[in-house]
Amino acid sequence: MNKVPSKIAPAAGRLGILLPGMGAVTSTFIAGVELMKKGLGKPIGSLTQLQTIRLGKRYEGRNPLIKDFVPLAGVESLVFGGWDLFDDNVYEAALKAGVLTPEQIAPVKKELSAIVPMPAVFDQDYVKNLRATHVKEGTRWELAQQVMEDIENFKRKNKLDRVVMIWCGSTEVSTEPGEIHGSLEALEEAMKDDDKSIPPSMVYAYAAIKLGVPYANGAPNLSADVPAMVELAEQTGAPIAGKDFKTGQTMMKTVIGPALKTRMLGLNGWYSTNILGNRDGEVLDDPGSFRSKEKTKTSVLDTILEKELYPDLYSKISHKVRIDYYPPRGDAKEGWDNIDIFGWLGMPMQIKINFLCRDSILAAPLVLDLALFLDLAKRSGLSGIQEWLSFYFKGPQCRPDLKPEHDLFTQHLKLKNTLRLLMGEETLDHSGLDYYDAEKGAVHAAPAPRPYKKAESKKKVKVA
Ligand SMILES: NC(=O)c1ccc[n+]([C@@H]2O[C@H](COP(=O)([O-])OP(=O)(O)OC[C@H]3O[C@@H](n4cnc5c(N)ncnc54)[C@H](O)[C@@H]3O)[C@@H](O)[C@H]2O)c1
Repeated sequence: MNKVPSKIAPAAGRLGILLPGMGAVTSTFIAGVELMKKGLGKPIGSLTQLQTIRLGKRYEGRNPLIKDFVPLAGVESLVFGGWDLFDDNVYEAALKAGVLTPEQIAPVKKELSAIVPMPAVFDQDYVKNLRATHVKEGTRWELAQQVMEDIENFKRKNKLDRVVMIWCGSTEVSTEPGEIHGSLEALEEAMKDDDKSIPPSMVYAYAAIKLGVPYANGAPNLSADVPAMVELAEQTGAPIAGKDFKTGQTMMKTVIGPALKTRMLGLNGWYSTNILGNRDGEVLDDPGSFRSKEKTKTSVLDTILEKELYPDLYSKISHKVRIDYYPPRGDAKEGWDNIDIFGWLGMPMQIKINFLCRDSILAAPLVLDLALFLDLAKRSGLSGIQEWLSFYFKGPQCRPDLKPEHDLFTQHLKLKNTLRLLMGEETLDHSGLDYYDAEKGAVHAAPAPRPYKKAESKKKVKVA
């Protein structure tokens, strides 16, 4: 049992968002927030900004916006910084990424130009297709100390009250956790030995978590998803979450997959392919980086469909995922899914999905939500793995003995119920039986709708 704290510290002052990797996603995210600050853009895709949360019974009519219900930092209080392999400022990075047009970002050119990345922690062996020109020198241990200094300086210079870090850097070559990732002591020793099995993303994660700064990982890299980092996070009180933003094709997969299973329809095969022409696509053209992505992209169906429970329906699935680097498309990724299903008496059917999306447009609101929710978690005294943020990830980090939750709508329920618990509200079970319990007079008891009033006292509650 994990006790949810009864008090949440207020979101007073300024919140810094530090982003290792200042490419397409980061520049689209920052440009969007700066435009919003001027009233020139809408936060479409963001739960923290747009979504309501139902409280109590349906007839009560209490549906506040999430941002009015839980004490979140306001967008006007956000300050941005980060690191990159190249010294382009965020305006230049946005122009190169080409997600938004020069006309769209012109009103925030001054703000974006002022954000210049700090030199990166880099190892060519982990991102084969990029040639870095803006990097730090030292052993992995020394580099972590330098990143910690960067964080402290950024906080001081910008008069920040709190900071969060979200990895928006490239996808690193796939690695498996080894002995050195098994405990904090072993990891720190290995960092001092400049052990090559520590990827750069793990150095950033170590620096943040060591300072108690919340950390989320938007790529499939190992980063904070090893026992040593979880140990550190619990020690320093840092909330952590990952891995790999769930934006386009996998988001759809975690909607359709549960739908098939809910209806007890069978699945023979799922073939997913993509064309993508941005820098992320160039990095994923390397087989090692693609392997990392392939792991998070393919893992979702196994846990959703539970073939061990339903061998007749799901034991013979052929699941393939492809990504092709195709420069003309830039950030406007196109995904195709061919899904071979079967129904009554084994009769075959097919579903086709053609998703013409924009990668960074789908990812930017996730970065905003994660930053604000991780800051909330920290102020609420939650530390270690934040499973309630699984909603945002292809490969949700969870306790090693548990299966991750992949179903988008179960993840959504988990997220909202956690917010209810944090605020001392009842969680929803959606059975609806109590509406019809005549003995309790429930059928006749519906009072007139009353407006939402923010909860004043927060009860101590327990989460299983
Ligand atoms: N856009 C999406 O829908 C989506 C979804 C899931 C995951 N992601 C992941 O998010 C990440 C960012 O995507 P993007 O489209 O912005 O890619 P991008 O290539 O435009 O930007 C990544 C940036 O990270 C920098 N970088 C690489 N290694 C670094 C290091 N060690 N330190 C600092 N900077 C480093 C690169 O120079 C680059 O500018 C990628 O890993 C991508 O796979 C994106």
